[in-house]
Amino acid sequence: MKLLITNISKLVGVDRERRERVCGAEMNRLDTIADAWLLAEDGRIAAFGRMEELPAELRADTEVDAKGGMVFPSFCDSHTHIVYAGSREQEFVDKINGLSYEEIARRGGGILNSADRLHDTTEDELYRQAMERVREVIRMGTGAIEIKSGYGLSTADELKMLRVVRRIRETAPVEVRATFLGAHAVARQYIGRQSEYVDLVCREMIPAVAAEALADFVDVFCDKGFFTVDETARILEAGAKYGLRPKIHADELAASGGTRVGVEHNALSVDHLERAGEAEIEILRNSDTMPTLLPGAAFFLGMPFPPARAMIDAGLGVALASDYNPGSTPSGNMKFVVSLGCIRMKMAPAEAVNAATLNGAYAMGISDMLGSIAVGKVANFFITKPIPSVEFLPYAYTSPIIDRVFLRGKEY
Ligand code: NIG
Ligand code: FE
Repeated sequence: MKLLITNISKLVGVDRERRERVCGAEMNRLDTIADAWLLAEDGRIAAFGRMEELPAELRADTEVDAKGGMVFPSFCDSHTHIVYAGSREQEFVDKINGLSYEEIARRGGGILNSADRLHDTTEDELYRQAMERVREVIRMGTGAIEIKSGYGLSTADELKMLRVVRRIRETAPVEVRATFLGAHAVARQYIGRQSEYVDLVCREMIPAVAAEALADFVDVFCDKGFFTVDETARILEAGAKYGLRPKIHADELAASGGTRVGVEHNALSVDHLERAGEAEIEILRNSDTMPTLLPGAAFFLGMPFPPARAMIDAGLGVALASDYNPGSTPSGNMKFVVSLGCIRMKMAPAEAVNAATLNGAYAMGISDMLGSIAVGKVANFFITKPIPSVEFLPYAYTSPIIDRVFLRGKEY
């Protein structure tokens, strides 16, 4: 099956060097081809070039005129909690009335609230609700997504969540990666017995998840009021025995030591980092760990934004992800995340686009196949309405300019 897109005003995110990630000053380089065409064959990008050089004999099964719109590689959203039951708008109102995220959690709301709902929801119903969100984010330009467990908090319910993730992976046209986050909060029955809960995660949950090959990564909410650095290290070591590489929640509510323990355990990413400072930046330098920033959470909870500018200026690469979840970020709109990166974290538009595409793919271990426009990569991309510049995408921060979505070389 061949798909030919013509009359692309700009083909954005062309990467002839097939870089696995972009760091520091390189982040502000977003190569484009003006007045371009793109050919996909059997779901992969097969060729592209300038319209004036379009081979006259080139024929495809489907031809699409981009009518002067731009083509961007699909967003690679490397941090979500998109499988959950119901919603938590009552806590949203509590926050408006002055309660903090931590206060709500201490009252037994927050993650435990979602865990109670998930427990009472069947696997089929969970899948149905999650797929609605998956379809929503696909329409908003996402072509690869990481999904975490962490609202189960018992072996049976964590497995239930991860089986839903597997089903999404098998049925949705996006690329999916799964992360086991049993240590998202201490389950209600274990309150006051946190170390026993950590034992359960290490001795029962991780082996059970691994036995069914349900997860690619292991995550821990390493933060004030949640899991300590020592507990995090134990869990990451238990995961490593089964080949689960860490991607962890770190330094969101306090400078918790999460970045250090993550890098020490060769984490693929450390995520959030609202409270990260120079020490964390120093730790991340010369590591393979991608700092992943979730500005939607800072926006929604009124927290300080992570220091993206200082990180990039120090030579780091950063990724942007949505954190789509019912508590801190009920949105998976990656275009808005890119806008927040620019508006609130002073990222240049090109830096923010790279962060939400190639570096997001790196943070899921899939940048060899997604995240940029390169021959051989999966043909996941979107066409915009005609827009005057790349910068217009984050600038027009609520305009629905993503017009047509293509996944594995097929229109969605
Ligand atoms: O990434 N910070 C921890 N976990 C989620 C929020 C989960 C929830 O409140 O349901 C996050 O923001
Ligand atoms: Fe999260």
